[in-house]
Amino acid sequence: MNNRRKLIAGNWKMNKTSADAVGLAQEIVAAVGKQNEVDVVVCPPFTAVEAVGRVLEGSEVRLGGQNMHHEASGAFTGEVSAPMLRAIFASYVILGHSERRTLFGETDEIVNRKVAAALRNQLRPIFCVGETLAEREAGSTLKVVQTQVERGLEGVSREQATSVVIAYEPVWAIGTGKVATTAQAQEVHAFIRGLLVKLFGEPVAQRIRILYGGSMKPANAPELLAQSDIDGGLIGGASLESRSFVELVNAALAAK
Ligand code: 13P
Repeated sequence: MNNRRKLIAGNWKMNKTSADAVGLAQEIVAAVGKQNEVDVVVCPPFTAVEAVGRVLEGSEVRLGGQNMHHEASGAFTGEVSAPMLRAIFASYVILGHSERRTLFGETDEIVNRKVAAALRNQLRPIFCVGETLAEREAGSTLKVVQTQVERGLEGVSREQATSVVIAYEPVWAIGTGKVATTAQAQEVHAFIRGLLVKLFGEPVAQRIRILYGGSMKPANAPELLAQSDIDGGLIGGASLESRSFVELVNAALAAK
């Protein structure tokens, strides 16, 4: 057993108009908005963040962005910043998601700057790492994850590190229905924990949550969440309907 509180985060990706997002948020708040034994976070698309934030007011469900720029303001068309997210009461931000890395060219260095900017602005980064299928088949999973973790967290202090949430998302498991086996996931999570021990020392490493992401569903969640280094989930598809998302929160409550 450990003292880490489980965390279930919904990454709604590019889904839901603002009105639809409000409806989903209302259902989530009604079902799990009062419990505070498991941390629950929803990350709507930017056009819905503020409206969803209003729905979450007074509940235990927290708000997150899906990305942000590392600068606070300026000529960066199409981008939003950490202070902007803070101003609408977001407390988390997903950074370095594999879709950002592969489709939008985000490098470890860019992700690192974003992690630093989030921490400077009291936003908790949900910092994503994970290997592609080709990398797994080549036997380089741990090496790839090590590089992403070390580069992404460069310059992060011990004090800041406890605010970081890491999400291990094997790219081949995202949106494919192919979930990593519990053994595959736990192996990488334990490896990441070991890296965190080296970077920040044992007591800090033991406080950092490491989420699993990639086709997590109510059916496979209990087994994944029972693993000693799996502290929750970053959920894509199954977070788009309140029923499955709430079932995942309940699975985390049962696993705590
Ligand atoms: P799926 O749950 O749809 O596989 O997506 C996972 C993910 O990318 C969450 O960030």
